[in-house]
This record gives sequence, structure tokens and C-alpha cells, in this order.
Amino acid sequence: MITEKHNGQKNLDEPSLDPDNWSDIKALGHKMLDDVFQMLESVRERPVWKSTPNRVKQSLYNDLPVKGESLTDIYAGIKDLLFPYAKGNLHPRFWPWVQGNGTPSSVLADLLTSGINADVCTGDHAAMYIEEQTLNWLKTMMGFSSESSGVFTSGTSMANLTALLIARDNYTNQIVRKEGLHVYQKQLVLYASTETHSCISKAADIVGIGRRFVRNIPVNHQYELDVSELEKAIESDKKAGLEPFCVVGTIGTVNTGAIDPIKEISHLCKEKNLWFHIDGAFGAFVNLLPSYKEKVDGMSLADSLSFDLHKWMSLPFGIGCLLVKDKKKHRQAFAIQPDYLQVHARGMMAGPDPIYNYSIEMTRSFRALKVWMLLREQGVDKIASVIEKNIEQCQYLKRKIEDCDRIELMAPVSMNIVCFRYFPKSMKEEKQLNRINKEIVMMLHERGNVVTSQAVLGGNYVIRVANVNHRSCKSDFDILVSEVLETGLIVESIFS
Ligand SMILES: Cc1ncc(COP(=O)(O)O)c(C=O)c1O
Repeated sequence: MITEKHNGQKNLDEPSLDPDNWSDIKALGHKMLDDVFQMLESVRERPVWKSTPNRVKQSLYNDLPVKGESLTDIYAGIKDLLFPYAKGNLHPRFWPWVQGNGTPSSVLADLLTSGINADVCTGDHAAMYIEEQTLNWLKTMMGFSSESSGVFTSGTSMANLTALLIARDNYTNQIVRKEGLHVYQKQLVLYASTETHSCISKAADIVGIGRRFVRNIPVNHQYELDVSELEKAIESDKKAGLEPFCVVGTIGTVNTGAIDPIKEISHLCKEKNLWFHIDGAFGAFVNLLPSYKEKVDGMSLADSLSFDLHKWMSLPFGIGCLLVKDKKKHRQAFAIQPDYLQVHARGMMAGPDPIYNYSIEMTRSFRALKVWMLLREQGVDKIASVIEKNIEQCQYLKRKIEDCDRIELMAPVSMNIVCFRYFPKSMKEEKQLNRINKEIVMMLHERGNVVTSQAVLGGNYVIRVANVNHRSCKSDFDILVSEVLETGLIVESIFS
């Protein structure tokens, strides 16, 4: 084995991208780390969000850099341009979407991931085994057996797409995969509630089903999929000569956080021989709470389950996961064996079954490290207690809304999403209420004290709070209600 001692000299005839001076980059790296932790520690002292000024936008229209610049100067620019005008999701009063805040230790995990820079695709190297172990921990958390398979993705959209490909290939007995859609001439149909996330339609389009053949099944007054309507739709399609192949249920719908009747859907899918996929982007994690066990009982009966780690697990973007009950079916949909990637008996090309056999992607970053570190650092009990806290905070907000005569609740609060609207007694006209509430949302952002989003429920524009924020405290929701009431009065006066 040859080992070389680094003599600190750079050969200028053979350029590399390493620094001329390692001491300088080490010092700058330490400074960056200090600044990032300082930014996290002092997050409450800043507005949640600030609009990006023209000065910043204009400064970005530079020509392609031909000659390099000093990293110190680049970093000074980043501190000036990027830090103050970030999205705001680090802040305890950021609730527009189910987007995690990140954690301080995951900053270090991402640093290590880039430092090690392992491509977790194939081979005998430690990152592959850490990825495998992390997936096994997630299977345990979600009640999937150790025989099941899994894969990390960039997010739930990608995990859902991966699941639909497996469902399609399983149903069509690999014909589409091998021969193309034109050979499998029958029209596949997918079922999901009207409240399902838009990425399911997009995935159906990509796998060749067509958006028109995604049946949007009506929901009940709790925004949960109506199973009798689902059954009717399946039967009607069968009679019309179409081929129902998959149902997507959701644990935690995007608008209101509703949980579809998982067990009933699962039984129906068994009876009709359909693939049952669950989109549990954020909601799957309630499986950790005894109070939700009954509601999500049946989650592990699904053929596949997707969820994000960058939502309620608070990790930096982008990391999602797909678990598949039948590893063989998962592998059949993606397995490929080019000569240049042949697995060998020994050497670096040995190791676990390559991940590209379970994934759309080939080269991929070592996504699992931050999950592995977070689970070891915090333990699953602490993560569950944060999830429980967020749900309790939403109940607290719900009670505050119910106690106030100028705001009204617009949907049941089944998990971590609260939908409500400003409702001045003098105003009953729906169109006007929609305009007022839209204006309130925009003004809340501009004031910078709280950030919410919106949903449209039954034609009504509502203010939506989605809480996966491990930094939020109860008092933050007091501030939210005060802000809505104060902003509401201002908007009312503008509109009257
Ligand atoms: C229920 C649901 N499914 C899917 C997604 C898409 O997830 P991602 O943005 O990680 O692709 C979301 C995003 O919020 C979601 O709420």
C-alpha cells in the first residue's frame, strides 16, 4: 500500500480545485459554521420573512465568472444577499407549508455528507451500510417488516412517482417496462381523493396513465376519502372496460391534514386486487403517537408508503423515503445490470444490492447520514414528543379561534393544520371575504411577524397554518391571532 505525506506544495502545472492555502479555508469554514449557528440561535430576533430588495436581485445579474474570486469575498456577498432574505422556514412563526426548520446538528450532517462525498449507489463502502441501517430504523418506525424494501428520494413527490411505477409494472406484469405502453393496450385507472396532493396527478402523467384517468373520489365532511364512492368508481370503470390498478390514500392531506380511512381502503384494495399506496408525506409520523395508533391502524397493510424526512423530521431539504412491502416487486420495477456496474465477489464492487436497482436515480448523495445522526442524537421518543407538541399547539389555536368572534374555523383540526378566516360581523358576502382574507395573508407576510399560507375550501379562501415547527411555542400562536385581528382591522378599513 502506498501512502504519501502531503508536503503542502501545489503543482501549478497540474491544476486541481483544492485551495492554495488549506489554513485559510479551515479558518473561513470555522467562521461560516459560527455564523450559521449564530443565525439559528438568534432566529427569533429577526422577521420571519422580508421581501428580496431590487438591490439584491440586480446584483445577481452578473456575467459568467471566467476567473476565480476569493472565497472570503464570495462569502461576504452571501452574508449580505442571502442570509437576510432567506425563505424564513428557520423561524418559530413560519407555518405556511409543511416544511421543516432543520436542526443545528443536521447542518453538521450535511457538512459531513459533502465532505465525505460518497455516491451511495453501489459498492462496498460504509455509507451503503449506514443507509441500509437507517432504512431499517424507518421501517420499524412505520410498522413495516424488515423484509420490506426502501429507498431514499429527494422528497415525497419522487417517492410517490417511484411507487406508482412499481404499481404499474406489477399490475402489467412488466409488459410496459419491457415493451412500452403501446403493447399494453388497456387503460389503467388510479384512484385518490379530491384532497390528494397534486404530485399524484403529475406522477400518473409521467408513468403514462394520463391525468384524465386519475379519479378524484369525493370526501366526507372531515375531508376524508369516501370509501363507498371509491368502490362505486372502481366498479363503474371496470364495467366500462378500464383497468383499475391502484388507490392512493393520504395520511395528512395537504389542505387540512385529514387522514383517509386507511384500514377500509386497504381491505377494499385486497378484495379488488389493487395496489394500495399511502402518501404520508408528513402525516405518517403520527404512527409514533399512541393517540393516533387506531386512526392509522392499517398503515403497514399498504403495499407502499411514502413520507418526507424534511417535514416533520425537521431535516434540511431534500429527503423523502419510500417503503415497499414486497421487495421483489420493488426490485423488478428498476433492476438493471449494465456491465460497467457488475457486482463483483470482492473489492469495491462487492457490497449490498446496488441502490439503483430500487431507484429512478443512479448517482446519489449520502442522504441517510443526516437521518441516522438525528435518530441517534435525539432518539425517536423526543421526535415523537415534538410531533405531539405541534398537534397540541394546533388544538390550542383552534380553541383560541373558537373563542374569538372575528375569526372562524373553516375545517376540522385532525392533526397539525388549522384552516380559518377573518370574519368581520359586518361582512357576509363570500367574494368580499375571500378578497379580505387574501389581502390579510399578503399583509401578514409583509409585516414579517408570522407567515401562513392559504387554501381554498369549498370555494372559500382560508388562512392555513401548517405546523411542523419544532421551534414554535404556544405564545407564538397568541402572536398569530393578534396579528390576524390587527391586520384584519387594517384590511377592513381599506376595503370598506
Ligand atoms: C400530502 C403531501 N404529499 C406530497 C407532497 C410533496 O412532497 P415534496 O414536496 O417533498 O415532494 C406534499 C408536500 O407538502 C404533501 O403535503
